[in-house]
Amino acid sequence: MKAEHLPVLATEVMSMLAPAPGSLQIDATVGGGGHTERILEATDPDGRLLGLDADGAAIARVDDRLGPRFGDRLVLRRANFRELRDVAPDAGFSAVDGMLFDLGLSSFQLADAERGFGIRTGGPLDMRFDATRGVPAAELLASFTTAELTALFKRYGEEPQAGRIARAIVAARATTPVTTAEELVALVERVAPGNPRVRRRIHPATRIFQALRIAVNAELDALQEGLAAAVDLLRPGGRLVVLSYHSLEDRIVKRFFAAERRGCVCPPEIPICVCGRNPRLRLVTRPSLTPTADEVATNPRARSARLRAAERLAA
Ligand SMILES: C[S@@+](CC[C@H](N)C(=O)[O-])C[C@H]1O[C@@H](n2cnc3c(N)ncnc32)[C@H](O)[C@@H]1O
Repeated sequence: MKAEHLPVLATEVMSMLAPAPGSLQIDATVGGGGHTERILEATDPDGRLLGLDADGAAIARVDDRLGPRFGDRLVLRRANFRELRDVAPDAGFSAVDGMLFDLGLSSFQLADAERGFGIRTGGPLDMRFDATRGVPAAELLASFTTAELTALFKRYGEEPQAGRIARAIVAARATTPVTTAEELVALVERVAPGNPRVRRRIHPATRIFQALRIAVNAELDALQEGLAAAVDLLRPGGRLVVLSYHSLEDRIVKRFFAAERRGCVCPPEIPICVCGRNPRLRLVTRPSLTPTADEVATNPRARSARLRAAERLAA
């Protein structure tokens, strides 16, 4: 499978970020560099962008492709966006005009047969964005108890057959432990094949792959921490744009935006505010944007995308 870097909702991202020449921008998830490239073009001749990715291969690829063209306007760091609060000021980006999070995995990662992200690509079940840290998915499958696997598949995959699949994985360990994407796909197809009509659109192992990837990369905790740091780093009037791809991510973004828009965190039974917190965000998209049928037809990865954007208010 040839990997391409067609950025999702690119027109909408650019209109929400509205990046101006001379501005400072952060792309917290450079991936294939599709959005990064457009932001740098729009901020020509002197806008600067800090691009992060947990995946060293993504950083190297974008550096090769865009580094020569944009020179020191593009600053790249291999880092998890949960470290944004330290990484951005260290790189000279302490107060920025725009910040983009395009969550999840890239088409390059999905197509990489050495990393086990793809149901149809196969390969050893690693699934780490940053292969230098953490525990590969195969190790979770080899060491978690049935109860732990069941909880993981329910929590991060909302998988109705979680218990049945967890028991089959633990039983398989006695003879043939599940270590590759192909083996996991075959096991799910055998024990929880699902409704054949739904199967044509969504593979029965989709939720299991999603759950493992979220757990391996602690994606939901990273998102909470990354968003909190992002609001602190934005200048008044600066824009925060987030693209999410499933309901667990989107729920976090939606609740985070709502809390920052409200400001006050006092319980409703207290008549006067005692927390003293002011609203820090104004919603720009209300409620959210999704791709057109045309975009989904040309870029299937956009299928479940949802964009939310907010603007930083003066403190
Ligand atoms: C959907 S892709 C981004 C695609 C990119 N916007 C483009 O136009 O090519 C998501 C990228 O975010 C990275 N990523 C996911 N979670 C991350 C995190 N917590 N910190 C840093 N990078 C992360 C992944 O490694 C992946 O390369």
